[in-house]
Amino acid sequence: MKLKNKVAIVTGGGKGIGEEISLGLAKEGAKVVVADLDKENSSNVVKEIVKNNGDAIYVETDVSNEASVKNLISETINRFDQIDILINNAGIRHVKKLENHDLSDWDDMISVNLTGPYICCQAVIPEMKKIGKGKIINFGSIASFMGRPDRVGYVAAKSGILGLTRALAIDLKGSNINVNTICPGLISTPFNKKYAEDPTHGEQWGKETIVGRWGLPSDIVGAAIFLSSNESDFINGSEIKIDGGWLAAKTREGEL
Ligand SMILES: NC(=O)c1ccc[n+]([C@@H]2O[C@H](COP(=O)([O-])OP(=O)(O)OC[C@H]3O[C@@H](n4cnc5c(N)ncnc54)[C@H](O)[C@@H]3O)[C@@H](O)[C@H]2O)c1
Repeated sequence: MKLKNKVAIVTGGGKGIGEEISLGLAKEGAKVVVADLDKENSSNVVKEIVKNNGDAIYVETDVSNEASVKNLISETINRFDQIDILINNAGIRHVKKLENHDLSDWDDMISVNLTGPYICCQAVIPEMKKIGKGKIINFGSIASFMGRPDRVGYVAAKSGILGLTRALAIDLKGSNINVNTICPGLISTPFNKKYAEDPTHGEQWGKETIVGRWGLPSDIVGAAIFLSSNESDFINGSEIKIDGGWLAAKTREGEL
């Protein structure tokens, strides 16, 4: 087991990619704190971990709210005494034409997708410093590297995540805390269901990756375990794209 007895907070751990990461870290021996707004799904994830002889708790959390994140940290410490790993996975997305994208949409995108990870990092770093080590994994996107239509706030937030990761990594020099970003491509989760199942384009969009299909939440888990483990100690301030090659080569059928 690569993460035996490590304590991991997974934000947005109740659904989609976060759910698979919670289950995957637990299989590697981590004690998991599922930090999510969604009580029902998160409680099911906790039950599944416990059923498989793992250890996990749910803490109702809004990552964009400082008081809620403070509560998350104190609940985690009360139960597990320390925090080794923070997976900043919680995210939301509005897809709207620019003329309909108003300040509240912008504020939503920035507060959950960028300010949320910042608040969680600020809250968790003192705990990691107490134990002299830590792994922080932020969540970017293919939208961290390119403009995407009708997603002005989302693209801005996900681009900002790369800057947050690099700036934090350097500020934490000498503390034995690594900060990296995972950038998923098209992953079939509740977040993207409507696109993955689109009768006209869904299958074709999957084929535009080099691998030739939509990704699954399980495609992200290996990298999350790796970046949480000692095997990745020399990776810092960096990012891993998990997009089936979509960014490397935008392809059209017949060209491969
Ligand atoms: N699915 C994709 O194709 C894709 C692509 C690129 C990046 N991402 C990123 O991966 C991450 C996970 O995406 P997903 O597809 O699994 O999403 P999802 O919608 O399936 O799940 C997100 C989870 O986050 C929780 N959440 C939302 N707002 C929250 C908040 N304020 N506080 C705490 N929890 C909150 C939700 O309740 C949900 O359980 C996100 O950061 C997303 O931007 C996803």
